[in-house]
Amino acid sequence: MSRPTRQTLAPASATSLRRFPGNSQHRPPHASAPFRKAAAALLLVAAVALPCAVLYRAVVLNSPPPVQVGWGFRPWQEQGTLRAPVMVPEEDGDLDAVAAGDMEREYPKLEQVLQEASMDNKTIILTTLNAAWASPGSVIDLFIDSFRRGIRTNSLLKHLVIIAFDRTAYRRCTEIHPYCFALVTDDVDFSQEKRFLTAGYLELMWKRLDFLRLVLEKGYSFIFSDADVMWFRNPFPYLYPDGDFQSACDHYVGNATDLRNIANGGFNYVKSNNQSIEFYKFWHSSRLRYPGYHDQDVFNFIKHDPYVTEIGLTIKFLSTTYFGGICEPSRNLNKVCTMHANCCIGLQSKLHDLRILMEDWRDYMSMPPGLKILGALSWRVPQNCSLSL
Ligand SMILES: *[C@@H]1O[C@H](CO)[C@@H](O)[C@H](O)[C@H]1NC(C)=O
Ligand SMILES: *[C@@H]1O[C@H](CO)[C@@H](O)[C@H](O)[C@H]1NC(C)=O
Ligand SMILES: *[C@@H]1O[C@H](CO)[C@@H](O)[C@H](O)[C@H]1NC(C)=O
Ligand SMILES: *[C@@H]1O[C@H](CO)[C@@H](O)[C@H](O)[C@H]1NC(C)=O
Repeated sequence: MSRPTRQTLAPASATSLRRFPGNSQHRPPHASAPFRKAAAALLLVAAVALPCAVLYRAVVLNSPPPVQVGWGFRPWQEQGTLRAPVMVPEEDGDLDAVAAGDMEREYPKLEQVLQEASMDNKTIILTTLNAAWASPGSVIDLFIDSFRRGIRTNSLLKHLVIIAFDRTAYRRCTEIHPYCFALVTDDVDFSQEKRFLTAGYLELMWKRLDFLRLVLEKGYSFIFSDADVMWFRNPFPYLYPDGDFQSACDHYVGNATDLRNIANGGFNYVKSNNQSIEFYKFWHSSRLRYPGYHDQDVFNFIKHDPYVTEIGLTIKFLSTTYFGGICEPSRNLNKVCTMHANCCIGLQSKLHDLRILMEDWRDYMSMPPGLKILGALSWRVPQNCSLSL
């Protein structure tokens, strides 16, 4: 595969190197280009998603449609389609796991993993893993590799707990990482692949949210990160000291407290306190009001709810300058903390673009300091990632 050549000398204007190679070479170096592209794909996406969701409601849930929600599908909300299908082999007895319903009974096991991985201030890093993302060379390997190649991120690996959704993922985790925990759900049929917005997929997303609530109740604050988020710099210095719930964004409007920011559920920091615990309970129970939606969409609905103010939860949105993604890249490699393969459909496309991200980062790291400062390098993604189906 030929790789687009790239200048590394400082351009007259920083934007002149903001290229989007790939399918269409040298697209205009305009910040909103991905959005315009996304908008073009919107109708197609909606055309597919709408009937699916309607069918889901009618057949699976057999419940009335939500009162309030319009079909305002936004491309950046569609990134949830990127979360991989989940494949769960039949269970056996030796899995070091708990069923979600037994979480409390299995308290000591979970407690032990959290304790071992915790920082002094009871903070941990969590990610989730399924079979599709667990195979060698797949997403989880890129995730861990990014910590090793990032700036002051390698030492964070000893605070990372990988939550496995199935036996294959759990086994792989134990081969590559010291802190693994299996979250197995016993009341969902896992005998087949789970696809986005199927009952099983949604069930799993909500189980995960309930699990995170339990982690908060145990007194642990956490960064939750999807495994398709590459960690290039230690994010902790860039979090707000006064935010209970801080979320990366698919679209950032330039103001950390503006609720018009579109949160992305793939990266967030949550402080363990009464406010966050109550909020997680409220969020989880809100699934009943918005059947057929996953946790990220429901967050973007309920962030406006007066009850959130009543709880006293402080929400902060993290700038895409530091916490970027393919929807809205972090443009400056001198500032980037994380890059998320959101706005990307299909695992192969995702892997392709994640590998490009890692190559770009390696190129950046090997540049002399003077060139780094000039900001001569920019991401070559998106290439295969897109919202079009
Ligand atoms: C917790 O400790 C880590 C490691 O010392 C630090 O980076 C992080 O900022 C601390 N978190 C909070 C919320 O103080
Ligand atoms: C940011 O948003 C909040 C909430 O919408 C608003 O009160 C505040 O004035 C905004 N700040 C700036 C600098 O625009
Ligand atoms: C939470 O609230 C309870 C009672 O309302 C209080 O006793 C406790 O100290 C609070 N915990 C925190 C962490 O604020
Ligand atoms: C990525 O896109 C290129 C060009 O469209 C195509 O040739 C290649 O097969 C794609 N790779 C993957 C992994 O999808």
